[in-house]
Amino acid sequence: MRHIMVLNAKGGCGKSTIATNLAVHFARVGQITCIADYDPQRSSLDWLASRPADLPAISGVAAFDEGIRGVPRNTEILVIDAPARVHGTELNELVRRAETILVPVLPSAIDIKACGHFMAELLELGKVSRKQARLAVIANRVRENTLIFEELDVYLAQLKIPYLGSLREAQNYVRAYARGMGVMELPEYLAWPDWKQWEPICAWLDSKRSQP
Ligand SMILES: Nc1ncnc2c1ncn2[C@@H]1O[C@H](COP(=O)(O)OP(=O)(O)OP(=O)(O)O)[C@@H](O)[C@H]1O
Ligand SMILES: [Mg+2]
Repeated sequence: MRHIMVLNAKGGCGKSTIATNLAVHFARVGQITCIADYDPQRSSLDWLASRPADLPAISGVAAFDEGIRGVPRNTEILVIDAPARVHGTELNELVRRAETILVPVLPSAIDIKACGHFMAELLELGKVSRKQARLAVIANRVRENTLIFEELDVYLAQLKIPYLGSLREAQNYVRAYARGMGVMELPEYLAWPDWKQWEPICAWLDSKRSQP
């Protein structure tokens, strides 16, 4: 089973949004997919509860009380939605659960600064420094042609880990979440710009580069 975690200590950067869309990607390509929700706010589990029965199935487990338990045995991909504000030993414990870690970052001065501190902490962890986990960053809620996105773009590009691309700020994410769907499941005429933006992210995840 592969374990793919969406992680950033900063709240509200899009972890749950990206985790749910990732689960949809894997379910759509025929992988048996489960989502583990580490966040007591249950964002991923609530999303799953409204998922239509005629779409590719995704299972879900609550991990916020006792860790990851009850994942169906035949699961091929476990997407892990991490909580905000994790540091120190808790972060170390969490990172041990995954071989692939995606870090979303918002175009905001506060988030860019916080990302600097978080990255420094993450890169120090044994599992990451021994390259037993592969890391990548994604810019999220991006508005093209803004100074702050330019700043984030430059910042992410100079990190020594893969920068997979950006996801635009779009109501499609809000809409898809409310319906238990991913943006890939919205109609093409509405969501094709989002589909395009997911391509490099999915390509990296489907490649050996994302696995130790
Ligand atoms: N690309 C996007 N476009 C528009 N809205 C977005 C996008 N990504 C996330 N959002 C919205 O931003 C808010 C925060 O997103 P989300 O809950 O996914 O973040 P999070 O990192 O999981 O938060 P927390 O740290 O509280 O768990 C939500 O209202 C979500 O709908
Ligand atoms: Mg969340």
